[in-house]
Amino acid sequence: MCGIVGVTGREDALDVILRGLRRLEYRGYDSAGVVLADGGAPLQIVKRGGKLANLEAALEDESLVGATGIGHTRWATHGAPTDRNAHPHSDPDQRVAVVHNGIIENWEELKAGLPDAEFSSETDTEVVAHLVAAEVEGGATLPDAVRAVVRRLQGAFALCVQHADTPGMIVVAKREAPLIIGHADGVGYCASDVAAMITHTRDVSALLDDQVAELTPEGMVVTDLDGAPTQAHDYHVDWDLDAAEKQGYEHFMLKEIHEQPQAIADTLRDRLGPAEGPSGTPRLHLDECRIEEGEFGRIDKVFIVACGTSLYSSMVGKLAIEHWAGVPVEVEVASEFRYRDPILDPHTLVIAVSQSGETSDTMAAATHARDQRAPVMALVNVVGSTLARESDAVFYTHAGPEVAVASTKAFTTQLAAFLVIGLYLGQARGRVFSSEIGDILSRLQRLPDQVRQVLELDDTMARLAQQYADVPYTMFIGRHVGLPIAMEGALKLKEISYQHAEAFPAGEMKHGPIALIEDGSLVVALAQAGHTFAKMVSNIQEVRARGASVLAIGTDGLEGDLKAHAHDLVTLPEASHELASPILAAIPLQLFAYHVAVARGEDIDQPRNLAKTVTVE
Ligand code: M6R
Repeated sequence: MCGIVGVTGREDALDVILRGLRRLEYRGYDSAGVVLADGGAPLQIVKRGGKLANLEAALEDESLVGATGIGHTRWATHGAPTDRNAHPHSDPDQRVAVVHNGIIENWEELKAGLPDAEFSSETDTEVVAHLVAAEVEGGATLPDAVRAVVRRLQGAFALCVQHADTPGMIVVAKREAPLIIGHADGVGYCASDVAAMITHTRDVSALLDDQVAELTPEGMVVTDLDGAPTQAHDYHVDWDLDAAEKQGYEHFMLKEIHEQPQAIADTLRDRLGPAEGPSGTPRLHLDECRIEEGEFGRIDKVFIVACGTSLYSSMVGKLAIEHWAGVPVEVEVASEFRYRDPILDPHTLVIAVSQSGETSDTMAAATHARDQRAPVMALVNVVGSTLARESDAVFYTHAGPEVAVASTKAFTTQLAAFLVIGLYLGQARGRVFSSEIGDILSRLQRLPDQVRQVLELDDTMARLAQQYADVPYTMFIGRHVGLPIAMEGALKLKEISYQHAEAFPAGEMKHGPIALIEDGSLVVALAQAGHTFAKMVSNIQEVRARGASVLAIGTDGLEGDLKAHAHDLVTLPEASHELASPILAAIPLQLFAYHVAVARGEDIDQPRNLAKTVTVE
């Protein structure tokens, strides 16, 4: 996820771009860059790694001129967050500049088709600049060139392109990534998010997939990929600026909850490599692997280390790895790991899980493992984070920036990632056939739509939250894949609503915790389809008999048993694999915690005593 801003027809274009980028910095702040065109001369590009402030400082020593330009703030996906990987990217003559939000899946293949081109970055984006430059050199107009190149791209992208020979023109295109355009008082604007344009125009158009728009001071022309005129989605923005940064959501947490379909699709995207070996079958691959891939085939034990929400996704990760790779897995609180004597050797894989990739406890556990010569795989969201850099292999969740302290999309994308990691280790150990991997992956592609369906429960969860906002104590219970979700549900509730909540394995209740149940206690029971369903139904009856109100989270088609025993029932679609079901179950619990906190008037995005990234031990 990155932020794009473009403007054509304003003398203060640079200022407008920088102000727009400031509003989009929530979309990523690994680097920032701008390009301005000034009548035929090579394009003027300034870009810097790090936050927008670095770019602003660099611009103090430059004198960029021009009424048309583009800016970008980056959330790194391909290539580390450095100056040279910062956008805009250009051809060697700086005639074409391109900024991009998304992932171009076939960039390596396209790059291989340009054997003589000189590339100066590790990004997937730069290939677009070379391809557009070649088209224009061959006689195409800039819009035609962009259409021709976009037809060859696979993946998700919003692209914004400028050429030195057409200094007053910006051409934009998109597929599965947002891009808004607008025109007012002889000025054309484009941006990833309306927040960057709202002070200039409130009448905007959202470009649809595979549309290309040409922006000049004279107006904007929208076409399809064949160049035929077509219509974008026009709308009027009546939010204020603060709401616009959150795309109309009241809080970042809610926005991030609703981003989960896209985030999960991005996690699962592009995981199979090209066909290999005598059988010609595609194999799963990691984002980065700095050790012999064969080493994963020789591991005989796995430790997963993490904190907080990442720890709970790791508990599902254990189940996935044991199921597919057939190797024993221990999950350990990262802050405890190095204070005992974990038995580690080069055949022990340590998976360190962290949204930020900067959590001190998790970093220290990974360092401890590497000191003992155990290979470390990082499962992280932030590209180029310390944990990613200092690990032997990396799996990125590609969830995009998570701003709210309460982790939501980072959690469900970690769950999705663990399904792939389980299969990857199964593949490395020769325990799953590629046909099985292909079959499971294609069934998992249903997840984003199923998550969309679950998000429709928002109003239901808001109503239930109102109903239960003041209960003194909430207990979450679950079994197997339901247990980590129960634990995450309790963590979400306590961290943002400050309501006392705990989670227990449902089978453990009778060994002690059931003594806590009294009239008025709320028990949230995770009872999705699966081999522990019948046992959960019994556990629900046990707590209900002792005075608890039961809110059950179940599966479509199994309502019968649950309805008879739960006071409230929330039904979910059936997941394509039992190990994928936690992804669906986590979402109503996120919504529940969110709405309880709203009902109690708490500070949702910045709860007391907490920080987004915990860099102290
Ligand atoms: O960045 P990390 O995943 O390493 O962070 C770990 C925890 O601090 C984090 O998950 C925390 O528990 C969340 N705020 C929970 O919502």
